[in-house]
Amino acid sequence: MTCIGWGKIILLGEHAVVYGYPALAAALDRGVTIAPVATPAGGSLRVDVPAWSLKASAADDHPVARCLAVIADGLGVGRPSVSLLGDAQIPPGAGLGSSAALAVAIARALLVHARRRESVTEITHAAAASEALMHGKASGVDVALAVAGGMGVFRKTTGLRAFPSPPLRVLVGPSGSPRSTAAMVDRVAQATSEVVDDARLRELGALTDIGTTALLAGDLAGLGAAMDRAHALLAGLGVSTAQLDSLCDVARVCGAHGAKLTGAGGGGAVIAIAPRDREQAILTEWKNAGVTGFVATVRGKS
Ligand code: PMV
Repeated sequence: MTCIGWGKIILLGEHAVVYGYPALAAALDRGVTIAPVATPAGGSLRVDVPAWSLKASAADDHPVARCLAVIADGLGVGRPSVSLLGDAQIPPGAGLGSSAALAVAIARALLVHARRRESVTEITHAAAASEALMHGKASGVDVALAVAGGMGVFRKTTGLRAFPSPPLRVLVGPSGSPRSTAAMVDRVAQATSEVVDDARLRELGALTDIGTTALLAGDLAGLGAAMDRAHALLAGLGVSTAQLDSLCDVARVCGAHGAKLTGAGGGGAVIAIAPRDREQAILTEWKNAGVTGFVATVRGKS
């Protein structure tokens, strides 16, 4: 049996979501899958994801090993003799929720191995503890989407409010530039530390509401305009890069409704939404800029 944690994109509201504002996010149609394979008694608890050249045993001195241990502890399963054999359809460290997807897939696989029923609450808590180790001050949006899939508006106080929506095609461009979510979250904390209620964060939150209303009304131009404005605000907070700005500009020049960085920024990925007949031109221009993009279809579950 394979267990999944979904990758995700944030359509609107990243960083502001850490401060309690809403974010519009959607699970990708791909993520991380893990199959638990029992090993002889006395063997170690280990995870192996060849697609990311990742191998770690719970006792190792390695960030993923510490995450594995914290997830096992959160679920109260001890250190079972099991190899967690993984596959990944999203790149690591690209702003697509890879670490949350891995944590959720691991948690699900450990419960399967322990012959325990899946509990969303248990999986969420265990994966959130792993994310706290990896990223420090995480809002929880990545974990919520990695567990539930679908699409919705996430707030720290109320969690994910999922809603049904028609399929939305989103172009995703992983820039290939590494970055640290924790470092980007710190950068925004510094940029906004002088003010109690930073107007840029407040506007990012308002854009989530505007963009969600537009999406649900089928107004992709309206959603795109909100994305463009959100990118400008995120750039103003210091989390964009020249490469991310350029990938967004290229998409707009090719006719996208809108484009922005997604996730923490500082590298990672951009997203764009575009009329169907403009998609290939955008992917081609991104390819010319050294970025292999793809089209993900995201949808809210009914
Ligand atoms: O880049 P990612 O996938 O780690 O997303 C981070 C999203 C932030 O809003 C910047 C942080 C958070 O925990 O919500």
